[in-house]
Amino acid sequence: MIIFTRVQELQDHLNIVQDQQKTIGFVPTMGALHEGHLALVKISKKSNDITVCSIFVNPTQFNDPGDLEKYPRTLENDSKMLESVDCDIIFAPPVSEMYSAAELELKRQKVEDKDWTGGKTVDFGQLDKVMEGTQRPGHFNGVAQVVSKLFRIVKPNRAYFGQKDFQQLAIIRSMTQQLGLPVEITGCPIVRESDGLAMSSRNVRLTATERKVAPLIAKTLFSVKEMKEKHSIAELKTFAEAQITSEPLMQLEYFEIVDAETLQPVSNYKEAKSIVACIALKLGSVRLIDNVIL
Ligand code: PAF
Repeated sequence: MIIFTRVQELQDHLNIVQDQQKTIGFVPTMGALHEGHLALVKISKKSNDITVCSIFVNPTQFNDPGDLEKYPRTLENDSKMLESVDCDIIFAPPVSEMYSAAELELKRQKVEDKDWTGGKTVDFGQLDKVMEGTQRPGHFNGVAQVVSKLFRIVKPNRAYFGQKDFQQLAIIRSMTQQLGLPVEITGCPIVRESDGLAMSSRNVRLTATERKVAPLIAKTLFSVKEMKEKHSIAELKTFAEAQITSEPLMQLEYFEIVDAETLQPVSNYKEAKSIVACIALKLGSVRLIDNVIL
């Protein structure tokens, strides 16, 4: 496994790989890796000659500077984990390698940077106006910005993202299509702890008491999935909201049942081909999201 921190050095290496007609699979991450990330690497390795994993805590997607500061940075442990699944390349650039001072200044002034599209117009329509979009202004712009930069640097054939960030996956698909980037996007199943809690880098920040109640999130989603045969969407919403608000340590941000493609809320099952229940809440000071396809 080789670790690169500079764009030019990574590209010099990948140019040779591409000249040999080898395919590149790419797993973008912000580090603090867990089994969910390793599952993405394993999936990539099955379909590609070379797998690149990036580890970059992207400042432009954090709307809360405290959250950015607290985000765990565990490169040494991450490298060991990636080595254990035979990842070929880690790309772990410093911030200065990814952003100009001008780009960071726009972020500091909370001015949405639209210049990362290379002159093209990218419009997410209603995709970024719901759920995470309403709770975290500017977040998806930052995600799309960094992922498009990473795609242009790595030039992967395929890229792999977890379905836990369901809305992020939809935004990345839309961005890739609108910018005409030649990357196949694959969404991969959520990996869960044995008690159902969706794996997340944030889980390590839960206290022992919070960790004990955290499985209620997945339990609620799985119950909703079971109940759908006999209950209306409105009833599922009432049930899920009551479950979460009955737990004093949890503060519900949203529970939405949406069209899996457009992410717009639906009020009956016939409105969409595929429907997904999405939840976001705060458990103590930790913000957690999860979802289940109904
Ligand atoms: O899902 C994440 O870890 C991040 O949002 C991503 C896609 C690596 C972009 O920074």
